[in-house]
Amino acid sequence: MKIGGGPLQRRKGLFFVFEGADGAGTTTQCRLLAEALAARGHKIITTREPGGTSIGERIRNLVLDNRHREMSENTELLLYAAARAQHVAQMIRPALMAGDLVICDRFTASTVAYQVFARGVDGGITETLNQFVVGECVPDHTFYLNVSLAESCRRRVERNQPVDRMEEEGSVFHGKVISGFEKIATNDSRPKSILDASEDKEQLAARVLSDVRKRWAHL
Ligand code: TMP
Repeated sequence: MKIGGGPLQRRKGLFFVFEGADGAGTTTQCRLLAEALAARGHKIITTREPGGTSIGERIRNLVLDNRHREMSENTELLLYAAARAQHVAQMIRPALMAGDLVICDRFTASTVAYQVFARGVDGGITETLNQFVVGECVPDHTFYLNVSLAESCRRRVERNQPVDRMEEEGSVFHGKVISGFEKIATNDSRPKSILDASEDKEQLAARVLSDVRKRWAHL
């Protein structure tokens, strides 16, 4: 089976992405948007990064496993990129070609926030790598959920789940992720919404849906 390739000129679907630091609530907002659009009769594909394919989920387990504290920054960057390459080729691109609505929990901005702003890897290389793996599969609309460091920490503690390799980084690292996302969101010239993640989750979901319907009234 050949996966990926070919121009996306005939792309019929829409690609929505949620971005934000740990604890911003991207997963919840992906779910709430998917439920709202599905209730209106649309076919929705929800997915996440790293992950979304069986190869991507295996890479996710590897890259988030906190037994791998020795992982180099470049290895980490390439693993996220490899998961994304498979995700785009096997899932996102075919879904968009088929006319589906794809909602993705994190995408390229997460690599810039975590690997460039927080880890300090080269921004130019990351940009080239992102373009290489994504091609024309850029989001139609990105929702940036801004969260404060205090709120992000509070929510991560409240979740009371095992802490992964990224989450176990300290507050200096997560502070850099948060300020990185603020810069990325401000500088993103593509369609976007910048939202306050501290808002009640249902109110935030209503705002997201309203921004979607402002651009695509048929949704
Ligand atoms: P999450 O999906 O549970 O938020 O976990 C994914 C973690 O991986 C989160 O800490 C953000 C991080 N991440 C990166 O560092 N770079 C990336 O490119 C992506 C997609 C996620």
